[in-house]
Amino acid sequence: MRSIDIERRVDGEDALVVCARDDDGNLLAKAHAERGNETWSVRVDLEPGVHDRRAVLSTVVAAALDMTESHGGGPVHWWSDDAGATERAVAAEHGLREERQLFQMRRPLPVEPELAAAAEGLALRTFVVGQDEDAWLRVNNRAFAMHPEQGAWDEHDIAEREAEPWFDPHGFLLHDIDGELAAFCWTKVHPDHAPPMGEIFVIAVDPAFHGRGLGRAMTVAGLQSLHQRGVGLGMLYVDAANVAAVSLYYDLGFTLHHVQRAFVLDPAA
Ligand SMILES: CC(C)(COP(=O)(O)OP(=O)(O)OC[C@H]1O[C@@H](n2cnc3c(N)ncnc32)[C@H](O)[C@@H]1OP(=O)(O)O)[C@@H](O)C(=O)NCCC(=O)NCCS
Repeated sequence: MRSIDIERRVDGEDALVVCARDDDGNLLAKAHAERGNETWSVRVDLEPGVHDRRAVLSTVVAAALDMTESHGGGPVHWWSDDAGATERAVAAEHGLREERQLFQMRRPLPVEPELAAAAEGLALRTFVVGQDEDAWLRVNNRAFAMHPEQGAWDEHDIAEREAEPWFDPHGFLLHDIDGELAAFCWTKVHPDHAPPMGEIFVIAVDPAFHGRGLGRAMTVAGLQSLHQRGVGLGMLYVDAANVAAVSLYYDLGFTLHHVQRAFVLDPAA
């Protein structure tokens, strides 16, 4: 292997980019690190056909870890879609341990009538931009208080999503109790997927209302809303350790499609 050159870039307030190039300037790999809720989420894309994947990966991961350290430090979660022996070896080399698994789960749509019954009579309205952000942030941050990526969102995080081309308030369902937001199901259509796929992007029930059937009803409502927009395949991501949510999704007919793994470095642990 010839030498690997590393470029480092700060991309916005909480985002870092590391690129690895060969002597001729060809891109070998790129790492993105993004900070949310005090944790850095790192993803690395290796270019196809790269020789000596391990050396390239190791160099990029080392540079990314170094950069997060010099930009405030804190825990790092390196996410890998198809972690194999190389990823595991590189993680171990840099002191990262495999600690989290993210399930991608899917189910065909529409939902069967016996499952759909859970959402019957549920009062729903759709998200209003410019009006519902504060209430949504409050419920989201209470429900995901300990979540490394989904907790501690602010106005900036939601504004960024509202500006995305996929953002559609019609697929962002809210349920109020006594005039206060109690639960939501935010969906996202992936029209380029064949067949078109609809994601339950974020769903939560305010902790004050857990265990009353709202999570089940909101999930069903989200799936129905996706189906009404022409989608025949439902999908979501869920932390494998989130027992309540994983049980609910299996119960609603979702099956495991694939697993993403996070290798974790927690300097404080
Ligand atoms: C997951 C969540 C939406 C469930 O909402 P909920 O209103 O409490 O759930 P429900 O009362 O509708 O329960 C539906 C099913 O979930 C499962 N479930 C709920 N709480 C559970 C728990 N503590 N342990 C195990 N299973 C549980 C059960 O399968 C339950 O079905 P059952 O009542 O027939 O046993 C809620 O816990 C939540 O908002 N969590 C924080 C945010 C989150 O994790 N969102 C999902 C991310 S993918």
